[in-house]
Amino acid sequence: MKGILLAGGTGSRLYPLTMVASKQLQPVYDKPMIYYPLTVLMASGISEICLISTPHDLPRFKRLLSDGSQWGIRINYREQKIPNGIAQAFIIAADFIGNSNVTLMLGDNLFFGGSAFPNAVANFQKGATIFAYHVRDPERYGVVEFDNAGRAISLEEKPASPHSNYAVPGVYLYDNNVVAMAAKLAPSARGELEITDINKIYLEQGLLNVHRLSRGVAWLDAGTSSSLHEASSFVHTIEKRQGMKLGCPEESALRRGFISMSAFTKLTESMPNCEYRDYLVGIAQEILRTEFDQ
Ligand code: DAU
Repeated sequence: MKGILLAGGTGSRLYPLTMVASKQLQPVYDKPMIYYPLTVLMASGISEICLISTPHDLPRFKRLLSDGSQWGIRINYREQKIPNGIAQAFIIAADFIGNSNVTLMLGDNLFFGGSAFPNAVANFQKGATIFAYHVRDPERYGVVEFDNAGRAISLEEKPASPHSNYAVPGVYLYDNNVVAMAAKLAPSARGELEITDINKIYLEQGLLNVHRLSRGVAWLDAGTSSSLHEASSFVHTIEKRQGMKLGCPEESALRRGFISMSAFTKLTESMPNCEYRDYLVGIAQEILRTEFDQ
C-alpha cells in the first residue's frame, strides 16, 4: 500500500496566517500540522508516500520532511498547480502509484485514538474502504447514509439536508482502479474532481466498505482559526496528561521498526536542545529499559 498526503489548497479561511505558510504547515500545539496525518500513515505501516502541494509551498514541505530517509520512509513530491479537487491527486500521482493500492490522506485531518486505520490497511484487499464519523454538523462534509442493516446506501458531498449525521473523514483506501476512475471523472458543479464521486462509483459497483469509527476516536479538522486553536488545545491536554506526544514521526519510525535505535539516537543528537528532543531521548530510554526488563 502506498500513501498520498494531499496538502495543497489555498487555506483562505486561515488568512493572514496562510500568507507565509500553508495551512498544513501551521503549528498544532508543538508540531507542524502535517506531522499528524503523516504519522497516521506511518503507524499504518505505509512507508512510500507522495506529498502533493502547491508550487509555492512544496519547497517548505521539502525543507521540513526531506526525502523521508531520516525516518526510514520515502517521501516523493508532486505539484498541484491549481486546486482542481481532491480526486485530482490520483492523476497527479499516477506514476508514483504505479500498480499499487493507495491510501489518500488529507493534510488537514487530525485523528487520535483507536487502531481503525492500521487494521484497515493491513486487511485491505480490493475496492475502497472509507470511514464514517458521527458529527453534529454533517452538512460541512461528505455524508454517508446507512440502511437498517448498517450497509452504506448513499453518499453526498455537503448536502443542504443531510440524510445522516455520519461524515466521511479524509482518509480513503483504494485499489489501483482509482487511477483510471479519476482520469475519467468529470468536474462537479463547483468545478472540482470530487472524492465523493469516486466513492459513489465504488458504492455503485458494490465495492465500497464503510467502517464506522467508534466514539472514542477523535477526528478534528483545523481549517479555521478557532478549530486550529481547539486542535492545539486538544493535543496540549493529552500530551500534558500522558507525558506522551502525538504525531511524532521519529517515534512512529522507531516503534514501527522503520529505523534502528542507533539511527534514532543519531537523529535526536542532531536536534537542538529543546523539549521535543528531551521527549524523544526519554522514549529511547524507556524502550531500552523495557527491553532490559523482559
Ligand atoms: O475533511 C473531510 C472532508 O474533506 C470530506 O468529508 C469531504 O467529502 C471532502 O470533499 C473534503 O471536504 P473539504 O471541504 O474539507 O475539502 P477542502 O476543499 O477543504 O480540502 C481538504 C484538504 O485538501 C485541504 O487540506 C486542502 C486540500 N486540497 C483540496 C483541494 C480541493 C488540495 O490539496 N487540493 C485541492 O484541489
